[in-house]
Amino acid sequence: MLKSIFGATELEPYWVADMDFEVAEPIINELKRLAIRGRFAYEFDSQSVYSAIVNWYQRRHDISLQKELFVQVPGVLTGIALLIRELTEPGDGVLIQTPVYHQFKRLITTADRNVIRSPLKIEDGKYQMDYEDLANQFASGNVKSMILCNPHNPVGRVWSKSELDKLVELANAHDISIISDEIHSDIIYSGHQFNSIASYTEGNHVSLIGSPAKTFGMQSISNGYIYSQNKELFERVKAVVDSMYLGHGNAMTTYATIAAFSKGDQWLDSLLEYLQTTLSWIQSFIEKEIPLVEMFPVEGTYQIWLDFSKTGRTPEEVKAALLEAKIGLTPGNWFDAEHENFFRMNIASPLAKIQENFRRLKLN
Ligand SMILES: Cc1ncc(COP(=O)(O)O)c(C=O)c1O
Repeated sequence: MLKSIFGATELEPYWVADMDFEVAEPIINELKRLAIRGRFAYEFDSQSVYSAIVNWYQRRHDISLQKELFVQVPGVLTGIALLIRELTEPGDGVLIQTPVYHQFKRLITTADRNVIRSPLKIEDGKYQMDYEDLANQFASGNVKSMILCNPHNPVGRVWSKSELDKLVELANAHDISIISDEIHSDIIYSGHQFNSIASYTEGNHVSLIGSPAKTFGMQSISNGYIYSQNKELFERVKAVVDSMYLGHGNAMTTYATIAAFSKGDQWLDSLLEYLQTTLSWIQSFIEKEIPLVEMFPVEGTYQIWLDFSKTGRTPEEVKAALLEAKIGLTPGNWFDAEHENFFRMNIASPLAKIQENFRRLKLN
């Protein structure tokens, strides 16, 4: 992959959204226990997973969820793919707020739906939803559903309660369903609060909430969870998942997830502290050494979103400078064609390595 993006492989892979840290000890212990036991007969227990997730959200985010309203699916993207098919028809428009996680576009087009863009606006150096544009697009009749990214990958916004209220009100007025991808919900920096679409009772809205993938670095051993307070929608989705036997999961994922959500608090607190230190270091390095690079305020996620436009370098020249410093970032045009001179960086890596790479970066 690095070769196809950068034409080289000797780079630090800061482009992929996973972690370079060992997972929490309780997760390792659970996986060891299962491996040593050496028996993998029929053993499904999604109910205990839902209980662990419910307790976690109450404890960490003050969000009350009901375990009866979860449906387990193999992954978050599987969940979104399924919901697009349930909530819309071929040819319908599904709105995304660009720049946004590139797989959304693929999920929409491969389901034969149309991608409708509502670009985020930058106001006072901060990304905002464009409510005027949303109102116009919703009223046009071309949009049936939208995929919300909360916290937003790659721009790092954690949508506030009032921002979500406003969005839900607009969506309800035009009968638009919101599919809310909340996979990054636990990577929240101090001063910010995660709010979920799962808290809204009115409307046809649904969350992908509770995946431990990003929170605990369990990308290859996690499931996705669909949650909705809309009973009719919930039953419909559950019936489809049941009919395809998609909800089984496996023992490794099940027990690793329970261990993560019931015994992972301390590990996550340390991670957040570490990420916060890393963020501060990068921010002050950029301000002092490469001030023409703009780093947007990061409220959540372990991604940072950098704009190189003011450096006077073309995207190819920026790529070459990054390559020279052995920094492998995700090109901004993955997230939106108009963001050629933006790059996303995953900061969930050892700080010493990040420092070494940044110190090599020559853009002046
Ligand atoms: C916003 C978002 N959703 C979903 C995923 C992937 O989820 P999963 O691997 O569970 O399908 C990612 C991974 O980067 C992501 O950033």
